[in-house]
Amino acid sequence: MKRYYIETFGCQMNVHDSEKMAGILKSEGYMKTDSVQNADVVIFNTCSIRQKAEQKFFSELGRIKSLKKRRPDLKIAVAGCIAQQEGRGILERAPYVDYVVGPQNINVLKDIITSQSDFVFTDDNPLISETELPIERKDNVRAWINIMYGCNNFCSYCIVPYTRGREESRASGSIINEIKELTDRGYKEITLLGQNVNSYMSDTNFPGLLKKINEIDGINRIRFVTSHPKDLSDELIHALKDMEKVCEHMHLPLQSGSTKVLKLMNRKYTYEDYTKKVEKLRKIIPEISITSDIIAGFPQETDEDHKETVKALTEIEFDGIFAFKFSPRQGTTAYNMDGRLPDKVKSERLYEIFEVQNIITERKNKELKGTIQEILIEGKGEKDTGRFTGRTRTNKIVNIPSEDNAEPGDTITVKITRAGRHSLEGDIL
Ligand code: SAH
Ligand code: SF4
Ligand code: F3S
Repeated sequence: MKRYYIETFGCQMNVHDSEKMAGILKSEGYMKTDSVQNADVVIFNTCSIRQKAEQKFFSELGRIKSLKKRRPDLKIAVAGCIAQQEGRGILERAPYVDYVVGPQNINVLKDIITSQSDFVFTDDNPLISETELPIERKDNVRAWINIMYGCNNFCSYCIVPYTRGREESRASGSIINEIKELTDRGYKEITLLGQNVNSYMSDTNFPGLLKKINEIDGINRIRFVTSHPKDLSDELIHALKDMEKVCEHMHLPLQSGSTKVLKLMNRKYTYEDYTKKVEKLRKIIPEISITSDIIAGFPQETDEDHKETVKALTEIEFDGIFAFKFSPRQGTTAYNMDGRLPDKVKSERLYEIFEVQNIITERKNKELKGTIQEILIEGKGEKDTGRFTGRTRTNKIVNIPSEDNAEPGDTITVKITRAGRHSLEGDIL
């Protein structure tokens, strides 16, 4: 039997695309292996969001060259966002690569693994939203589901619109069918995936889609990523409030607390617009947790601008953030902007951002001590330690030392007994 090895870089979108590529290979009779040495097909599913991600992939790719030399029959495919961006350039740089397949073309994998020569598949493919592929999911309790592909926003720093193409929403019927199949197989939580889920629009809009999903029996929890602040409507906020299965968590990337920088980023909202939406969210759904993304050291960001970001963190009090140093991406508008900052300045600003946020995250977690939470068990700890891990509806990780017999997929009620920055601990009630 032939074996495949897939290495995934980047976001949930890529993680899920890897599940689809695994599904295709499995249906072609391939088996999964965790060792490159044993593989007949190796796929790198790549990410180009920041330079670091890109470098990591190219060094991995360099490492496999000798293996291909020893085993010329080994097939190497480069998929994902670097594949889309570099196209044939990858074959020029690494002639031992067999296939280059962009994210809109993973469906071709089925046909190419049996062929012999170099192939590059990077054409725009709006039909991706209508293509149903077999999926080999990693988890048995929680599932990712694409509801839309691509992005139309062109934030000035971001490569995604160039690698994933224009927004295409998937028909609601097809999404509902997929979720129903998952519930039949025992899945309890679904996460709807899109670069900007609140601009979903097919036969219904995003709140309409959530309503349809909320009616499906068997699903306990509905999550979604990512939301763009400019498209967060009152209709959506009220819909979230009314639907019992939709979890009280929103990832709402702010990027910067300076309206000047937000304009340079082409984010299409001011800091005030953002805070008004957060106020509304918290007024209508008081228990909601809000997480965010921040970019440190965007071109032309002054000390004052940076201070506004730090102030924003203390004003808004996110439950958690991801923060990154600005990384210039060729092809984006920000790549050619004046006023790039030295790495040292970016590092210092990033450090300060984490320093301020860490205290807030920890304090917010500590506030949960003594509260009663609904936890969906995701996994068991090491053998015989009697530990479970799961998440609150607000997406906080909870470790549960317990003698009780519970299984991944069970929903339990716990009392939070301890809280740290990264996780909580609780006792089963
Ligand atoms: N569509 C999602 C995900 C985008 S990528 C969204 O809009 O949030 C995830 C995060 O990576 C972004 O929110 C941004 O904070 C960060 N990011 C994107 N491009 C970047 C770049 N060139 N340099 C640094 N961070 C970047
Ligand atoms: Fe990138 Fe902006 Fe689109 Fe998110 S919304 S993927 S940050 S362009
Ligand atoms: Fe995701 Fe990286 Fe592409 S973050 S969309 S895999 S550039």
